[in-house]
Amino acid sequence: MALSRLHLPPYASVLGFILLLLRDGVKCTTFTLVNKCDFPVWPGILSGSGSPKLDTTGFELSKDTSRTFRAPAGWSGRFWGRTGCNFDGSSSTTSCSTGDCGSGEMECNGSGAEPPATLAEFTLGVSGSLDFYDVSLVDGYNLPMIVEGSGLCPTTGCVTDLNQNCPTELKAKSGLACRSACEAFGTPEYCCSGAYGSPGTCKPSIYSQVFKSACPRSYSYAYDDATSTFTCSDADYTITFCPNLSR
Ligand SMILES: *[C@@H]1O[C@H](CO)[C@@H](O)[C@H](O)[C@H]1NC(C)=O
Repeated sequence: MALSRLHLPPYASVLGFILLLLRDGVKCTTFTLVNKCDFPVWPGILSGSGSPKLDTTGFELSKDTSRTFRAPAGWSGRFWGRTGCNFDGSSSTTSCSTGDCGSGEMECNGSGAEPPATLAEFTLGVSGSLDFYDVSLVDGYNLPMIVEGSGLCPTTGCVTDLNQNCPTELKAKSGLACRSACEAFGTPEYCCSGAYGSPGTCKPSIYSQVFKSACPRSYSYAYDDATSTFTCSDADYTITFCPNLSR
């Protein structure tokens, strides 16, 4: 086999590889993270179990800059933004004002965001099946964030600065973040657990409705699927922190 290859023209293996890609639908999806905030953001990336880690699990994104990552078909994971970070080692665990992952360093190395944090969640399709994505406020909110796909993919996320209309009892981190009612009160009713653990019994609350009216396309509580999960295929995605509010 290996020897007969030598008789093929040099581009044959490249061509074969491309045909293989087409046949198997194996492709990479590109994620571009953009920071339009007036301040630096330290994105965190957490791959789902069984998904490979991307190039980094945490890094600094200065204002008006972007960084692109490739993810393989079938990848699942989440992105969020950390704010007010200081990794000089003066504090061993908490390094960021919001969205901290507790690693004590730039990289999150497999740890997720401490609530409250706005999350962009993805499950990429395999072999032509759909990508699923959403922006979730189920763990609260820290930054405005939108997800845009290439082509005709629906845009989702939260353009509004929810910290401005956060109910007093949900305010956290000196007003830099807004807790979910589940996080703040921990009751089954707000957390959709126990007797409230199904879509039929867990209903929007006065608190989730504040989130929903500020961010109509985001998950405002655990069973908010109908208006919050989006799908697309063959797309690349841009995740923007602080998308321009005035457009
Ligand atoms: C976290 O990941 C970075 C980059 O891969 C590595 O340099 C660092 O040692 C890791 N830290 C821990 C505590 O594993």
